Amino acid sequence: MAEKRTSIHGQWSSRMVFILAATGSAVGLGNIWKFPYITGENGGGTFVLIYLLCIALIGIPIMMAEILLGRRGRQSPINTMAALSAEEHRNPNWVLLGWLGVVAGFLILSYYSVIAGWAMAYVFRTAGGLFTGVTADGVNSIFSDLVSDPEKLLAWHTIFMVMTMIVVARGVKNGLEKAVTFLMPMLFVLLIIVVIYAMSTGYFMDGVRFLFSPGEITGKAVLIAMGHAFFTLSLGMGAIMVYGSYLSEEYSITQASVVIALADTAVALLAGLAIFPIVFANGLEPGAGPGLIFQTLPIAFGHMQGGILVGVLFFLLLVFAAWTSAISLIEPAVAYLVENKGVNRIYASVWIGLLTWLVGLGTVFSFNIWKDRTLSIPYLFEDYTFFDTLDYLTANLMLPLGGLFIALFAAWIMRVESTREELHTYPVIYKVWRFLVRFVTPLAVIVVFLRGIGAI
Ligand code: PHE
Repeated sequence: MAEKRTSIHGQWSSRMVFILAATGSAVGLGNIWKFPYITGENGGGTFVLIYLLCIALIGIPIMMAEILLGRRGRQSPINTMAALSAEEHRNPNWVLLGWLGVVAGFLILSYYSVIAGWAMAYVFRTAGGLFTGVTADGVNSIFSDLVSDPEKLLAWHTIFMVMTMIVVARGVKNGLEKAVTFLMPMLFVLLIIVVIYAMSTGYFMDGVRFLFSPGEITGKAVLIAMGHAFFTLSLGMGAIMVYGSYLSEEYSITQASVVIALADTAVALLAGLAIFPIVFANGLEPGAGPGLIFQTLPIAFGHMQGGILVGVLFFLLLVFAAWTSAISLIEPAVAYLVENKGVNRIYASVWIGLLTWLVGLGTVFSFNIWKDRTLSIPYLFEDYTFFDTLDYLTANLMLPLGGLFIALFAAWIMRVESTREELHTYPVIYKVWRFLVRFVTPLAVIVVFLRGIGAI
């Protein structure tokens, strides 16, 4: 048996806190902003079905593998991979997996922060009563006024990055714990309020049909659905691994993974049920793109009883959800700097935050002055802006690749005794998990990827 490590960054005070923090990482813009718009762009039903299959067959097993690695290594993902490959007497280059994650997290946060800034801007637009009685055209022009102004986007992006740096500098466990306990359930309740409004539009069933009735799907859409399963569960880049490294021995990884995945999926589906009826009731375009929630939800807030209050709370909680995800996006990098460079958390957070902020400028400009500067990469994508490119490369390439290697490491590199000891679950669950991470998950990721780029 390997000697037990402890994390120098401390430990979660209870299992519940770990579940809340990991759910806080998982639930974010991915569920409420991204899931509806990519579902709209990719035709609905079949896309959602594939996404759900990916959550169950790829997401949950990889989440278990990631928590397992983190808890066994007890360090930042980079050092965890170094320690575990040494412990198993394997190639030290596995450490590159940690690096891939750090880079992916950094790139994701650079645009994530800009979108979180939109949500912040909408708190104030809603509070000012701008949406009362608004029409679909009105909402559209309010949205384009915001994104076409680089200064406004820059200001919100800056504020959001500062907020993120402050929490990360203080250490993810201080403060985060209490806030998450209360605010996550509240976001859930507000989503349900919007779903109830959506039911009153007379178009609820159109929304349901769009989300759940199957249709045609392209290979690329399947890849996007799979990439989103990674993105929405925060997998493949070490966020869940680093949170796992603060988890104490005795808790069940299996149970935690299932709970987190279910909560995350529930939020995404509720967001879909809230948004699509509004889309159809107002003759909007489901494939409107990244602005979709900002062009639909304000209509609901502008027309329901108490809509200002509900709307302000909704966008506030969305910002909060984005915040708890953003923190986990840079925690692996910060933990690494603290461990290896002997710097303190404040210094590490400020530097990484500054760098992320800088790269974020590319996304700020993607919606205005650089709107027409696009890039095409053969097989992968055509005419993508800076933002589209980052989003594609991280969600559809880096996270699945990271996830693939996490699965391979846990299933083929680590000894059975090590993973069995760390998961300490029922023998059948262990067997199913091992079969999935050994064969199903890697094959699925490879096939979906190759089909997505049209190679097979
Ligand atoms: N899961 C987060 C969301 O859905 C985004 C995220 C991705 C967070 C990867 C951490 C790591 O918004």
